[in-house]
Amino acid sequence: MLETRMLVTGGAGFIGANFVRRALDTGRYRITVLDKLTYAGNRANLAGLNIDFVQGDICDAGIVEKLVPSHDVVVHFAAETHNDNSLKDPSPFLRANVEGTFQLLEACRRHDTRFHHISTDEVFGDLALDDPQRFREDTPYQPSSPYSATKASSDMLVRAWCRSFGVPVTISNCSNNYGPYQHIEKFIPRQITNVLAGLSPKLYGSGEHVRDWIHVDDHNDAVLAILERGRVGETYIIGADNDHVNNLQVIRIINELMGRDANDFEHVADRPGHDLRYAMDSSKLRRELGWQPRFTDQNGMREGLAQTIEWYREHQNWWLPQKQAVEAKYAESGQ
Ligand code: NAD
Ligand code: TYD
Repeated sequence: MLETRMLVTGGAGFIGANFVRRALDTGRYRITVLDKLTYAGNRANLAGLNIDFVQGDICDAGIVEKLVPSHDVVVHFAAETHNDNSLKDPSPFLRANVEGTFQLLEACRRHDTRFHHISTDEVFGDLALDDPQRFREDTPYQPSSPYSATKASSDMLVRAWCRSFGVPVTISNCSNNYGPYQHIEKFIPRQITNVLAGLSPKLYGSGEHVRDWIHVDDHNDAVLAILERGRVGETYIIGADNDHVNNLQVIRIINELMGRDANDFEHVADRPGHDLRYAMDSSKLRRELGWQPRFTDQNGMREGLAQTIEWYREHQNWWLPQKQAVEAKYAESGQ
């Protein structure tokens, strides 16, 4: 059987690197990764894998035009992704997330190439703690931060390029991911590595904020299902029904799993404009494509967190060199 030639942007980042592994495991894809290797990208995340790697910027029309025609499908993960960074300096987010997506869409338009766009639940804004609704494919966009506003903009471009130019696209909006290779600036790996480095976990504000946590492998299995069986022109919400724990409870679980007093953590300054709650209704994906998350409900999330803790414990060489600089940056903003 012929392998599908897949161009993965941002494949040296957290979700992209896990995706490349998952896709290679199927035996159905020949993969090229295009990644700028920003502070968030790491070539070592792809060490030993049988792929082609191109270091380059998705905003560089020349590189994009050189690569897209020799691929059957583009899976677009590359982005600036951290809300706290977007509050300090939004400009890289505009460039990578909006202009970069535009350049990829233009190349896919010229070559009629299938395009899958990886997006986030944050485009929908947030929900009240007692709101019974969850985000669906038709929920209106109401982004709160520069990060989520640029992701919302990129989703809009993708939809417009599909409708006006017939580019064969799909979009997925997924909730917060956790798992191996996640940059230690993000909530869960920051707390795990704090404990491993002898520091206290750090909770923003009251900790009542809720994220619908999903294991990165569950996310990536959904992306593969959409690529292989999804309907062109459609958007799919991806979520694993884990909106039963707030940030405070996540820190308590991490402490417990790491053999510490559950309440041994520090309250630090809250994030300006901090979204309160995200919750996903992924029934369309489950119904149409038969996808099911593996790490779901209380037990699934504990199992996923325990595996993730083990990974960081066993990969100190991967994160320790960055730890001091990451914490120094947070300390500047009282976090
Ligand atoms: P990440 O920050 O870990 O990795 C991003 C990768 O993109 C890095 O390898 C970086 O070098 C690369 N990159 C950034 N700008 C680039 C550019 N201009 N050209 C080429 N490469 C560039 O991000 P992640 O957490 O793996 O997120 C991947 C995608 O998934 C993003 O589009 C993000 O919006 C989306 N998403 C993330 C989450 C989450 O919880 N992390 C949830 C839903 C959706
Ligand atoms: P984060 O991982 O930055 O993802 P997002 O902003 O996309 O949701 O943060 C997840 C949640 O954790 C968010 O409510 C902010 C909170 N948070 C903390 O309480 N402490 C921390 O040290 C960090 C980084 C985040």
